[in-house]
Amino acid sequence: MDFKTEIAKKIGKQIDMEHDKIMGLIEIPPQTNMGDYAFPCFQLAKVMRKSPNMIAAELSGKVQPDGIVEKAEAAGGYLNFFVNRKEYIRQLIGEILLKGGEYGSSEDGKGKNVIVEFSSVNVAKPFHVGHLFNTMLGNALEKVYRHSGYNTIKINHLGDWGTQFGKQISAYKRWVNEEALGKEPINELFRIYVKFHEEAEKNPALEDEARAYFRKLEEGDPEVTELWQKFKELSLGEFGKLYEALNVEFDSYAGESFYSDKMDEVVILLRDKNLLKDSEGAKIVDLGQFNLPPILILKSDGATIYATRDLAAAIYRKRTYDFYKNIYVVGGTQSLHFNQIFSTLGLMGFDWSKDCVHIGHGLVKFADKKLSTRKGDVVFAKDVIDEAIHKTMEIIENKNPNLEKKKEVARKVGMGALIYTFLKNNREKDVVFNWEDALNFDGDSGPYVQYTYVRGRSILRKAGDVSDSADLSYLSTEDEFQLVKLMGAFKDSVREAVERYEPFVVIRNVTEIAKAYNKFYNTHPILNADDNVRNARLQLTKAVGIVIKTGLGLIGVDTPENM
Ligand code: ARG
Repeated sequence: MDFKTEIAKKIGKQIDMEHDKIMGLIEIPPQTNMGDYAFPCFQLAKVMRKSPNMIAAELSGKVQPDGIVEKAEAAGGYLNFFVNRKEYIRQLIGEILLKGGEYGSSEDGKGKNVIVEFSSVNVAKPFHVGHLFNTMLGNALEKVYRHSGYNTIKINHLGDWGTQFGKQISAYKRWVNEEALGKEPINELFRIYVKFHEEAEKNPALEDEARAYFRKLEEGDPEVTELWQKFKELSLGEFGKLYEALNVEFDSYAGESFYSDKMDEVVILLRDKNLLKDSEGAKIVDLGQFNLPPILILKSDGATIYATRDLAAAIYRKRTYDFYKNIYVVGGTQSLHFNQIFSTLGLMGFDWSKDCVHIGHGLVKFADKKLSTRKGDVVFAKDVIDEAIHKTMEIIENKNPNLEKKKEVARKVGMGALIYTFLKNNREKDVVFNWEDALNFDGDSGPYVQYTYVRGRSILRKAGDVSDSADLSYLSTEDEFQLVKLMGAFKDSVREAVERYEPFVVIRNVTEIAKAYNKFYNTHPILNADDNVRNARLQLTKAVGIVIKTGLGLIGVDTPENM
């Protein structure tokens, strides 16, 4: 049973409004003296031709105390509900203990396919911190969607096609150092790629050579194709290690090359609809009616580009997965590109273009410039991950040298610190990264929340056999009620994260739960309390552990048992 739902039903009996609408209007008041749920009466005022205050007052008189609600008070146009605390605590903790890791899940998305495209790194190029942010965000988003019952498909739209591969092949033939390639493939591929650009400034003929190589690749020339394949395998090998560290898996790696034979159809469709226009030898689609610059479909030499591949990919995805939503997690700098793609799909007559969404995100910046940038301004994801684990290991060696499975704990905590830092704010915001905050065990950090979980686990271990049947009415303090209420809000936070495409909503809730539990722990005895109270508080501790573990899991963070 869900209290918010029950309260919405009570309201529904008194007024003429749909249940879902009432659910959407119900708020959680900012202060505890204003109750636990509030229903704003402002929208009703127009229909009922009464002031919101009057409506709230009238409604309050009609609410009878029962197992759900203790009382309802009118205040400033709101109807404030005070739940029956004992019942609330009993039901909610019961629900958490029963559902375990499924707590907060729902069937909202039952039968609906949702594509989450993320990571989408580029073959032969560094997996940089921007991709790291992207990968963490996409991974978390996929998990909250899945927790809400959607059938998700994770796609890595690899950047493995395009004229840059002509350059890469030319660079390889001229300058590669095979030994370096064997040791650190991406470094070497990137080194010669950067060199290509330097050399091409002096010798423009190189550009022609590169174009010729890409044409060969498009034509399927065996030698050139083999090289491209080699770049791809080497790159995927390195990316695979990062995905393993991040605990990320994909259902499909269909990237840009996958669409190389599916673009003729796009061109034909556009031509049939009379959408293709000539522009200095190239083919474009005019998007003036949307106030957007035209989208380039074919270059003057007939070569297709990034955008054409995206049109082909969207059509393919609709056919293959019949998606309810097609979500592109891609940096905010590409928002114009996606606007153009979605508008073009609309012009082509695909009404499902409205189900395509670009989920943008900010950049990653470093507060301390010390972090090694190997080439140019690129910070490699691998370096950040290695350093996070290394620094965590140092802290463990310092604080808890006898800890078991140190390496595994360092990985979980180090990665937790990173993921938390990247995802703790609104995704549009730039991430300003510094190690002190990321690894601060007392602040808003991954380790802080993980540590709270570990603390709970240790209490439960010390308690020994914890019986399952406790009388939860012994959880009678204000601190306990507020803590339980935050755990109840977890369900709403998952729903909100899905609606807003914002995993940080879940992180914030879980952090508040951790803070509330620590406050409780510091003011009330658990193991030394009287039997009844002790038992009830141990159940509470179990429930907190479940919600923290589930919430961290939804953003891709593991919880160690010790740290
Ligand atoms: N590979 C591109 C990059 O690293 C991102 C691809 C985004 N996805 C897409 N469907 N266009 O910038």
